[in-house]
Amino acid sequence: MKVYVLNGPNLGRLGTRQTDIYGLTSYADLAEMCVRVGKENGLDVEVRQTDAEHEMIGWLHAAADERAAVVLNPAAWTHYSIAVRDACAMLNGPLIEVHLSNIHTREEFRHHSVVSAVATGVIAGLGVDGYRLALLHLAAR
Ligand code: DQA
Repeated sequence: MKVYVLNGPNLGRLGTRQTDIYGLTSYADLAEMCVRVGKENGLDVEVRQTDAEHEMIGWLHAAADERAAVVLNPAAWTHYSIAVRDACAMLNGPLIEVHLSNIHTREEFRHHSVVSAVATGVIAGLGVDGYRLALLHLAAR
């Protein structure tokens, strides 16, 4: 099964970005972990990050065409991008929305996700382990 692990804006800065909230794991280490967990569980995992909304939407369109599964951390787009949500709604495979932090315990503007209503499932607050669990779930489906 092909799985795209797609990451939105500022997630390329993991490891140095607000480490009290997002942890010390670097983006490179997160990407490597996802590929490794995928391999161990029979998934073909490709990990990407972008700060450009149009690029993310293009990746979601391609995932829809391939009927691939998607693990998505939409980062700040979570809270306001109807364009990202609309692209997610077109997916033909499962979509797992992942957040490193528990968005519900943070500022009020982070409590709502415009993506969750079109996601298969949502994981928040488990740090990078959320990505591992999302992949294990996809492998088990
Ligand atoms: C995040 C939470 C968002 O509110 C924030 O804008 C991010 C990361 C998370 O993984 O906890 O960039 O999606």
